[in-house]
Amino acid sequence: MKILVATQKPFASVAVEGIREIMEKAGFDLALLEKYAEKSELLDAVKDVNAIIIRSDKIDAEIMDAAPELKIIVRAGAGFDNVDLQAATQHGIVVMNTPGQNSNAVAELVFGLLLFTVRNRYNGKSGTELMGKKLGLLAFGNVPQNVARVAKGFGMDICAYDAYCPQEVFVQQGVQQMTSAEELFRMCDVVSLHIPSTPETKNSINAKLISSMKSNAILVNTARQDVINESELIRTLQERPDLRYVSDLQLAADEEAREKLGDRYFATPKKMGAQTAEANINAGLAAANQIVAFFKDGETRFQVNK
Ligand code: 3PG
Repeated sequence: MKILVATQKPFASVAVEGIREIMEKAGFDLALLEKYAEKSELLDAVKDVNAIIIRSDKIDAEIMDAAPELKIIVRAGAGFDNVDLQAATQHGIVVMNTPGQNSNAVAELVFGLLLFTVRNRYNGKSGTELMGKKLGLLAFGNVPQNVARVAKGFGMDICAYDAYCPQEVFVQQGVQQMTSAEELFRMCDVVSLHIPSTPETKNSINAKLISSMKSNAILVNTARQDVINESELIRTLQERPDLRYVSDLQLAADEEAREKLGDRYFATPKKMGAQTAEANINAGLAAANQIVAFFKDGETRFQVNK
C-alpha cells in the first residue's frame, strides 16, 4: 500500500513523523509532497497511490482520474469542501474527514483575533474587554463548542444558533440557543462564524445580517471565506463605521477591503487556525489511523460521501 501526504501547507514535522510511524507499523509506504506549487506535481504524485492525506488541498475529478489505484482520501481536518465528493463517489473512492481533531486550535485563534481587535491592535489606545460581552456562535459543532468553553473563562455571555444541532447539546454546554441567525446577529456584541461552505451557506453572510449588528459589534470568521458576501460586507462596513471584521481568511477583495475599511478589517496572511503542532498531530495521526483501519478492517466511520 502506498500512502501520500499531499499538503501545500505542511504539517509540523513531528506530525509527519507520527504518520510515518503508523504507516510503517502497518507495513505501508509513505510518500510526501509538501509545499507543492503546481497542480501538475500533485497529478504526478498520485499516479500509483492507494490513499491520500490532505489538508485544504483541492482534489477534483482530474486528480482522481490520474490516480487509478486511489481508494481513500482523508482530509486531516473538519471542512471537506475542497474535495469533489460526487466525483469521488463516481470513482468509488471513500472520502473521510477527522472531525474535532483540530478544533481547539481554531477556537484559540478566535480569541487571538478578538483580543487583537478589542485592544486596537495593541496601538496604545484604550480598548475594551471581552468580559460581559454577548458572544454569538453561528453553528455549534466542535470548533464553536471549544470557543464557548474558552469564552466562559473570559466571562462572556454565550449564545449559539445551529439548525442541525440537537437542543440537548446547547443545554449540556450551558449555552443559550437562539432561534435564527437573524436573532444572533441582532443580539450579539461579537458574532463568530463556524458554518461550513455549502451551496446553502455560500454568500449567506450578507448586508441584511451585517447591517443588523449591534453598535460596535465585531464579526469574526475562522470558517470559510466564501460564506461571506464580500461586496455586501465591504459596503455595509462603509455605511457602519462602528463595525469590524476580523478573519483567518483573506477576502478575495483583500486590497479593496484594506483600502476602504482600514483598521476595521484584518485577515491573517495565510489561513492558520489549525496551524499548531498539537492540531497537526491530532488530525494527521487520526487520518493515518483511519486509513490503516479502512484497509485492515473496512472501517468507514468518518466517511463523508456515503
Ligand atoms: C478545517 O477545516 O479543518 C480547518 O479549516 C483547517 O484547515 P487547514 O488544515 O487547511 O489548516
